[in-house]
Amino acid sequence: MEVFTLKSQYNDWRSKTADKTIGFVPTMGALHNGHIQLVKASCLNNDLTVVSIFVNPTQFNQQGDLTNYPRTLEKDLLLLEDSGCDAVIVPSVEEIYPSGLENFINIDLGYLDTVMEGAHRPGHFKGVIMVVDLLFKLVKPHKAYFGEKDYQQLLVIKKLKETQNYSIQIVSCPIFREKDGLAYSSRNLLLSKENRAKAKIVPNVLLHSIEMFKKLTIEDLKKWVEVTVNSVSGVSLDYFEVVNQNNLKPISSHLIGEETRFFIAVKIGGIRLIDNMIAE
Ligand code: PAJ
Repeated sequence: MEVFTLKSQYNDWRSKTADKTIGFVPTMGALHNGHIQLVKASCLNNDLTVVSIFVNPTQFNQQGDLTNYPRTLEKDLLLLEDSGCDAVIVPSVEEIYPSGLENFINIDLGYLDTVMEGAHRPGHFKGVIMVVDLLFKLVKPHKAYFGEKDYQQLLVIKKLKETQNYSIQIVSCPIFREKDGLAYSSRNLLLSKENRAKAKIVPNVLLHSIEMFKKLTIEDLKKWVEVTVNSVSGVSLDYFEVVNQNNLKPISSHLIGEETRFFIAVKIGGIRLIDNMIAE
């Protein structure tokens, strides 16, 4: 497996592998089975798989969150080697942003940026599309893999592809969960043992809310989720929404359709976890 820190190193390698198809998995490292699932999907469907590990400063709206973001590079590289990855790009901030952190790509994300993560993390998606656009231009993949764990991000990336006319195929992968149902997340590493045990409330509340959606008004369901989550000490609800997964517009009727998706964001001991589920 090749490990590159410079764009020029990647470009050299790419010119030698120009006849091969490239699958790309952008990450911020602290890799877990959710990421590895994306890497394996890419290995299955492309000649070569490239992973980037870059903790992107422009998508953190809170400095503390950026500083505390887990970094486990040695372990990440071992995991990637085992999973069949061909090349890893681990660039510095200067390498990705030679002209500074302010040159945001100007794409109107419209409604997508006004709800849920967009509303609760101002500027977050601007930073995400800024880095993904630069990474797409560098890596020039045929396919790029993203997890439904960050479902809203997936829609934002599809919008980036549309507006920039990228011919890259955006492949979405289902959420990979731990045994107790908690979605794998790099941020799970930051939870104390006690808070890790409390965190299973996140998938559990989503599962219950899908059941209760049929019986309650949306207002009563939201109240139930808020009371249930906030009644656990050290746990607080950021938001809970039931929306159409194609456009993130709220669903008001009691009929669950194929496109109805349930979203939640919760803080546990200061660590913010997000999750979503579709009613199967
Ligand atoms: P990161 O949080 O490292 O996630 C990288 C990719 O892994 C994303 O597409 C995310 O949705 C996916 N992923 C994370 N946990 C998952 C799980 N439990 N199941 C399935 N997929 C999962 O998302 C980012 O990094 C950044 O915003 C990035 C796109 C790299 C831009 O900086």
